Amino acid sequence: MSDAALDVVEFLLTTRVYNDDRELDENDLPPRYRQVFWPDGETDRDRPGTDGDSPLGIERPLRATIDTARRATGVDNPWSAISELMFTDRDEFSGSLELTQPEMAEEWFLGRADERVLHNPALAAAFEDEVDGADYEAARDANRPVQADRAWIDGLLAEYFADEEEEEMLDLVDIRAPEEIETTLDDLVLTTDQEAEIHKIVKAIEHREYLAHIGLREIGKLLFVGPPGTGKTSTARALAYDLDLPFVEVKLSMITSQYLGETAKNVEKVFEVAKRLSPCILFMDEFDFVAKTRSSDEHAAIKRAVNTLLKSIDDISLIQDDVLLIGATNHPDQLDAAAWRRFDEIVNFPKPDVEMRADILRLITRPMEIADFDPAALAEETEGLTGSDLRMVLREAVLDALTEERTELTQEDFLDAVIDFEERDNLKDLDMIEGDHDALVAGGDISGGASADGGHSHDH
Ligand SMILES: Nc1ncnc2c1ncn2[C@@H]1O[C@H](COP(=O)(O)OP(=O)(O)OP(=O)(O)O)[C@@H](O)[C@H]1O
Ligand SMILES: [Mg+2]
Repeated sequence: MSDAALDVVEFLLTTRVYNDDRELDENDLPPRYRQVFWPDGETDRDRPGTDGDSPLGIERPLRATIDTARRATGVDNPWSAISELMFTDRDEFSGSLELTQPEMAEEWFLGRADERVLHNPALAAAFEDEVDGADYEAARDANRPVQADRAWIDGLLAEYFADEEEEEMLDLVDIRAPEEIETTLDDLVLTTDQEAEIHKIVKAIEHREYLAHIGLREIGKLLFVGPPGTGKTSTARALAYDLDLPFVEVKLSMITSQYLGETAKNVEKVFEVAKRLSPCILFMDEFDFVAKTRSSDEHAAIKRAVNTLLKSIDDISLIQDDVLLIGATNHPDQLDAAAWRRFDEIVNFPKPDVEMRADILRLITRPMEIADFDPAALAEETEGLTGSDLRMVLREAVLDALTEERTELTQEDFLDAVIDFEERDNLKDLDMIEGDHDALVAGGDISGGASADGGHSHDH
């Protein structure tokens, strides 16, 4: 019997169990099934609340049709996958798929694929006694929770930010669902320090109730410090993915309104959005904005905004509000004590050392074939480059090889790309107006003089 038949029958059994057992909620549906049944944001708003279900929830009964079965299972032709089974039927007109003899279907399914019950919470609830090792709680833990779904977040937003003025609050932030995050912690090379800090925060979140109980509330505010391209944003997002928390991102420079008086209000709104979406991660990028505006005596309004920001940070808590705050800055030197003091952990994002660079190179080239690849040697040649720079080097090497119709790269391609990258880096430091450099004349040698930091020198 094909896997496709098992896939479709599992789907039919799950919808059936879910419709019958009102105790089950959205978290009992595997995410790939759930995504098919979320009401879309628009109609959701007008829908009367359903009994017992959460106001944004998935409505019963779940309808198993050729269309929903196809989208939930990925089986192209769900009916032909199961049409030969004695206990199935379809309604040509509506496209509904049915189990005409449910008990026979259960028996058939459990006899062939009972291990699937371990990962399907609805089925685990129904067949806990029939299947060895089936455990409802464990099955629930094995699946992503609803707050990781984009559709769930959209439902929340539609409900909590219903009127126009409130909708505008959402323009200040960028909200990402965990399922939309592409870089995970496995895609990042972290220092031992960074790993330890992340581990600590994961534990703190796990044991929130205990921490509240013993009165430890000053936890859950992290500041990521380091030069551009060292993985601050990626790590914060990866953490959201790992913890299944919505990710609310704001750049502090963006909420500085042209009407300065609005800026303090914007700050308050951002924290309000985070609180309504909690549990979530609030990521505040360009945190040094705080410092810059405080030290210059531009505008009383901006100072007010900054004070509002500091106060909002004081008022928000991982333990009470379920919001994990992560700030990030490239200019820690510009941050003053008032801001610095508000974070309970400072996480350093240094430029990667030679071993980390080798690891990053290994990691980002994982899916590729590279002749004579020697990441350690390449790492020696890339002193001063960040993870982001190394990605750029890789891109350069790939594109150059493509111009020669090659998809297999060599170590040499990489070495060339490093040189290209450094030339490009030097260009950045040239003063295009005042400068009197060879590089400004076509054919001139740019890899020669212009390095302002004197950091990279290569004799090839
Ligand atoms: N340690 C690392 N391991 C793997 N990839 C990395 C690492 N550091 C950076 N990168 C990659 O470099 C790119 C840029 O990283 P990211 O945007 O997180 O940097 P950032 O520190 O937030 O920079 P900025 O200060 O400019 O905002 C990402 O694609 C990321 O995956
Ligand atoms: Mg960033």
